[in-house]
Amino acid sequence: MNRRRRIYEGKAKILYEGPEPGTLIQHFKDDATAFNAQKKDVIEGKGVLNNRISEHIFTNLNAIGVPTHFIRRLNMREQLIREVEIVPLEVIVRNVAAGSLSKRLGLEEGTQLPRSIIEFCYKNDELGDPLVAEEHITAFGWAAPQEIDDIMSLAIRVNDFLTGLFLGCGIRLVDFKIEFGRLYENDMVRIVLADEISPDSCRLWDIGSDEKLDKDRFRRDMGGLVEAYTEVARRLGIVSENEPIATRGPVLVK
Ligand code: TMP
Repeated sequence: MNRRRRIYEGKAKILYEGPEPGTLIQHFKDDATAFNAQKKDVIEGKGVLNNRISEHIFTNLNAIGVPTHFIRRLNMREQLIREVEIVPLEVIVRNVAAGSLSKRLGLEEGTQLPRSIIEFCYKNDELGDPLVAEEHITAFGWAAPQEIDDIMSLAIRVNDFLTGLFLGCGIRLVDFKIEFGRLYENDMVRIVLADEISPDSCRLWDIGSDEKLDKDRFRRDMGGLVEAYTEVARRLGIVSENEPIATRGPVLVK
């Protein structure tokens, strides 16, 4: 058997060459990092859960007409995606004050924001993904003005969809981070949602108790990360109580 060609390895995922031109395989690792990888651990089962949760969300987004890179899940840790050119921006949507926004503006965590806020960070690990304005994005050519418009309207649609999805299962969507890519088709190029949406990239709080069901459990040394992600998967109806996601399986051979 031939070894697959690795296209890119990030902190939590690996991209391999796909079976057909224009496709890639996105592999979810168990690695967890925070604070630009200053804090690191391997949390067994995280990759399997994120693969399933992200599949569920992207499938539903595709179904409501939000264009995404997602084609289908292949196995426990992998999904088939369309190859896109990633726009070097982390797009953060916030509904409730938390994390870096609370620090920056002195807002108490949990304060409802007057309206949803979209922020952009320049995707650059060496610089620690700094917050940037639209002026920087267009001046440095990271995205064109029309692309920023497309990104913002898609981000709002994703926020509306996710807010309702999570509200329906007793979860408050505090904030999340998404990424976009350029999909080249014939002589056309369009912006589509890429990367993943999972408890690694969202803040999710239980509505009754405010219990954190996301990666802040790792960032803040709270423990119980796999249990929290499993609870999110269970509430989304991805797994039933008596049929948990099998998080053990073939181990990645490097
Ligand atoms: P922040 O409050 O730390 O800026 O995070 C905002 C949201 O973005 C939160 O849901 C966590 C997510 N996020 C990522 O997915 N990746 C990152 O590298 C960072 C810093 C945040």
